[in-house]
Amino acid sequence: MSFQGQTAYVTGGASGIARAVTRMLVVKGIKVCIADINKQGAEAVAQELNEEAGSQCVSAVAVDVADWDSQVAGFQTAIKELGGRIDYVYPIAGIAEVNWLPNRPKQEGFVKPNLSVWDVDGTGVLYTSALAIQQFRRQEPNKFGFRGKIATVSSVRGLYAVPSMPIYCAAKFGVVGFVRSFGKHLPKEKITLNAMCPAIVKTGISIGRSDWYDKAQKLNLIVKMEALLDAFESLLGGSDVSGECFEFPPGDIGNPSGWILKPQNEYTTPESEVHVQYSDSQFAHQHEPVE
Ligand SMILES: NC(=O)c1ccc[n+]([C@@H]2O[C@H](COP(=O)([O-])OP(=O)(O)OC[C@H]3O[C@@H](n4cnc5c(N)ncnc54)[C@H](O)[C@@H]3O)[C@@H](O)[C@H]2O)c1
Repeated sequence: MSFQGQTAYVTGGASGIARAVTRMLVVKGIKVCIADINKQGAEAVAQELNEEAGSQCVSAVAVDVADWDSQVAGFQTAIKELGGRIDYVYPIAGIAEVNWLPNRPKQEGFVKPNLSVWDVDGTGVLYTSALAIQQFRRQEPNKFGFRGKIATVSSVRGLYAVPSMPIYCAAKFGVVGFVRSFGKHLPKEKITLNAMCPAIVKTGISIGRSDWYDKAQKLNLIVKMEALLDAFESLLGGSDVSGECFEFPPGDIGNPSGWILKPQNEYTTPESEVHVQYSDSQFAHQHEPVE
């Protein structure tokens, strides 16, 4: 399968998972624009991958994914850089949990919560996806029959709640809900939308926490970047998988790929299932293209 001539937009590409995804795409012949708040880091990755490839296949643009205007400007630059068409969009940029409320019960008044994690990990993913879907709707299907594909990164913490990570979990569960709902609506428009839900991957995100990765390693909680890349790769080209969450659990799942498609919750009553179908039928018209 040749991906030569295809293009991709990757947020968070200066580091970690998005950087590894960018390299995988470049090796496959896909031209990439990486968008990151760390402009210097993004430019360094672009330079390194261009040198490795011996051609200009990666460009970099400075974007704060939590800011709509910044995202629009970055995406428009990317469309130009990539020759007017984008086949794949990867909303991957993210940050780890920070304290959202002051811990001083005797403090007077009410303090606005710090929702920066929600803004980057939740709103940021929705902004990038909104840009992608609008662009894809203007594009004709490519040689694989798709207008475009989105693959984002949620987390296992979007499937299993961690009590001390409320805003991160809210954002990551939110991304899972978005993917499991709209990802089942979009295929009729030849667009796919999926999410990766990994346990701990060694990247820059927790580098400030001393011993985090060493202790996690001893507890057998680390998942391999290769497993993520394998799943991202499986979604390229003609795959019609959409609305799915790829779980990368720690431990042995008896499957060498390291990932499974995580089934949705079971319906508690038959009426629960009917409720989903009924609600879908009432709201679907909102998303229909009108011309
Ligand atoms: N590493 C893990 O253990 C793990 C596990 C599950 C999910 N994830 C998710 O994977 C994604 C990638 O994380 P990573 O582990 O590769 O981390 P990372 O820190 O190595 O990379 C994150 C990248 O996002 C960029 N970024 C942060 N805020 C941004 C913003 N506002 N606008 C644009 N770019 C921004 C950073 O500059 C960085 O380059 C995140 O969404 C994270 O929540 C990571």
